[in-house]
Amino acid sequence: MNRLNKLNLTVLALAISLISTAQQKPNAIALIPEPVSLTEQNGVFVLPQNVTISVPAKADLGHTYALLKERIANTGATVQEQKENAGATISLVLNKSRDSRLGDEGYTLSVAPGKVTVKANKPAGLFYGVQTFLQLLPAQIESVERVDGVQLQAPAVEIVDYPKVGWRGLMLDVSRHFFTVDEVKRYIDNMSRFKYNMFHFHLTDDEGWRLQIKSLPRLTEVGAWRVNKVGLFNTFTPPTPDEPKNYGGYYTHEDIKELVQYAKDRFINIVPEIDVPGHSLAAIASYPELSCTEGADKYQVRSGEPIMDWSHGAPPIAMMDNTLCPANEKVYGFMDKVITEVAQLFPFPYIHVGGDEAPHNFWEKSAQVKALMKREKLTTIPQVQAYFEKRLEKIVNAKGKKLMGWDEILEGGISPTAALMSWRGEQHGIEASKSKHYVVMSPTQFTYIDYMQGDISTEVPIYASLRLSQAYKFNPVPEGANAEYILGGQANLWTENVSNIRQAEYMTWPRGLAIAESVWSPLDKKDWKKFAAKTERFFDRFNAAEIKYSPAIYDPIVTVSKKEGEYSVTLTPEIDGLDIYTSFDNSAPDRFYPKYSRPLQIPKDANELRIITYKGKKEIGRQMTIKVADLKKRVK
Ligand code: ACM
Repeated sequence: MNRLNKLNLTVLALAISLISTAQQKPNAIALIPEPVSLTEQNGVFVLPQNVTISVPAKADLGHTYALLKERIANTGATVQEQKENAGATISLVLNKSRDSRLGDEGYTLSVAPGKVTVKANKPAGLFYGVQTFLQLLPAQIESVERVDGVQLQAPAVEIVDYPKVGWRGLMLDVSRHFFTVDEVKRYIDNMSRFKYNMFHFHLTDDEGWRLQIKSLPRLTEVGAWRVNKVGLFNTFTPPTPDEPKNYGGYYTHEDIKELVQYAKDRFINIVPEIDVPGHSLAAIASYPELSCTEGADKYQVRSGEPIMDWSHGAPPIAMMDNTLCPANEKVYGFMDKVITEVAQLFPFPYIHVGGDEAPHNFWEKSAQVKALMKREKLTTIPQVQAYFEKRLEKIVNAKGKKLMGWDEILEGGISPTAALMSWRGEQHGIEASKSKHYVVMSPTQFTYIDYMQGDISTEVPIYASLRLSQAYKFNPVPEGANAEYILGGQANLWTENVSNIRQAEYMTWPRGLAIAESVWSPLDKKDWKKFAAKTERFFDRFNAAEIKYSPAIYDPIVTVSKKEGEYSVTLTPEIDGLDIYTSFDNSAPDRFYPKYSRPLQIPKDANELRIITYKGKKEIGRQMTIKVADLKKRVK
C-alpha cells in the first residue's frame, strides 16, 4: 500500500468515526419506528412562544390536536387553534386529492424554519405525523413536570412515512393481574406514541373474569375475585376456603365504552379476547354446570397454584379441569350470552376466542364427551375442540363479528373465515396464510414480552428469555408466508408475574420499541446498531415521561462452558460501547476493577461473580450477582 492510499484510508476512518459520533450526538435525529423516507434539510424549527395550529374543518382528529396542545403548552408556550389557515405555525392538513403513497395511515411531515406541516389522507396519518414531530423535539417535550421557558428545536426534515402492516398490536393480560381503567389508558397512550393500532385485551383466564356480562352476573361477582398471593406465580399454595378473595376487579360496560373511545381517539382498536374452552376456571368457578367434570362445584378462581403439568410437553396434563365442556348444550347458551354483550361493547370486527392450551385429559375421560364423539363421528380430541370452535364461530358470526383464535384452533380444521394468531412459532401462521386464512404473527421467539429480557440474576425468573436484540429480529411477514394473508404482528404481555403497571411498563419497553419498528418500518430501514443507539435516546424520553423501562441492554449476556474440568464464563455485551468490570471476591466492582477482556476462569473456592458495566466513566448497568453454583448449572 502506498502512502497516499494509507492517507486516504486514515481520512476515511476519521470520517466514519465522525459519522458514527454524529449518530450518538444528543440532537441527532432518533425516530422510532424508523420512517420510510427522511431527508434532512438545512436549518431548524424553533418552537415559538405563541404557537398557532391549523386543523381541518369537520374532521374527527381524535386526540391529535389535544396531544400537540398539551405537550406544547407544557413548555409555557400559548397554543391557539385555527381552522384551515395557511399562516399557522403547525398545519395539519387532510389531502384534498389522495396521496397514493400514504394509504389510510401514512403521512408526510415537513419541518422547516418557522413552519411545520403534516399532511395525510386520513386523520390516523395526522396523528402519526404529530407523534413523529414530537419525537423530533428534545426529551423535555415529554416531561410530566412543566418546563416553562425551555426553548425547543427540531431539525428541518422532509418525511414520507407509512406502515409495513395494518395490524400493529400489543396484548395485555388483565386476568392474571388486574389493571385499573386509568392504568389501561396509560398503557394504550404509551403504545400510541409508537404508532401501534391494536390493543388486544386478554379479558378472561383461570385467574379472573374481567368483563361485566349483565346476563351472567356471577362471572364478575365470583369470577373476578381471587385470593391474593405475593411471590412467584405457579408456586403458590392452593387457596383454602377461608382465605379472603379480595384481589381482582372487572370492567363495567361504562368502563369499556370509555376505553374504546380513549383508544379510538389514539387510532387504536381494542381487540377483545374471551379465552375458551381452556383457561376457563374463573367462568367455571362462577357457573360449575359449564364443566363436564364432577366436583367442579368445588373449584375456585386460581390464585397462582400449579394446575397444569407441562413436564410432558403440550398439551398440558390438567390437574383441574379448566375447560368449558364442548358436549354440554348449556355451554353454547352461555357463550351466546357472552358474545352478545362483547359484540355490543367492542366495535372491532373480530372477537378473539382464545382456543389455546385446552388440555385433553379430562375430555378423554368424560362420558359426555365420548357420547358427543360417537354422535358427531369425531375420532380425536382436536376434532372435539374443532366441533366447539365451529359452533362458537356460528355464534360469533350471528352477532355480526368474525372469529379469531390462537393457532391451536387449526388443529381439528377451521372454517375458511376464521383468522389465526400464530404464537407457537411462525410455522402455523405461515401454513394458515398459505391456505388463505388471515393471520397475525405473534411467535414466542420474537414477541413474548413476558419472558426475561436480561440475565436471570436481574429479572423475575421466568422459564424463557427474549433479549431486545432478538425481539428486533421480528418480521411479521416471514419467508414462506402468503403476505396477502398476513394482517400484521403483535407482542404479548402475559401477567402471571407482572403484578403492577410499573412492571408492565418495564416488561414492555424497550422491547415494545423493537416490535413497533418491526411492524411499521420497511426491512431495509431496520438496522440493529442504529436502533440500539436510538433506544438509548428514548430512555431519556421515558425518564421525562416517567414511563418505566428495562435497562437490560446494559447487562451482558452470561454464558458458561466447561472444558477439561475447568469452567469458563463468557460475558457478551448486547450493545456497543460498554466496558465490563467483574469481581469474584464478593465486593461490588467499579471501573477500577479488572476490565473484562476474555473469558473468566472461576477461582477454585470463589462463591459468587459480580458484574457491572460502564460507558466510559459512567456506571450504566445494574450490578449482577451470580452464585458460582448457579454459574456451573448454566453449562449446556
Ligand atoms: C398462549 O401464549 N398460550 C397463547
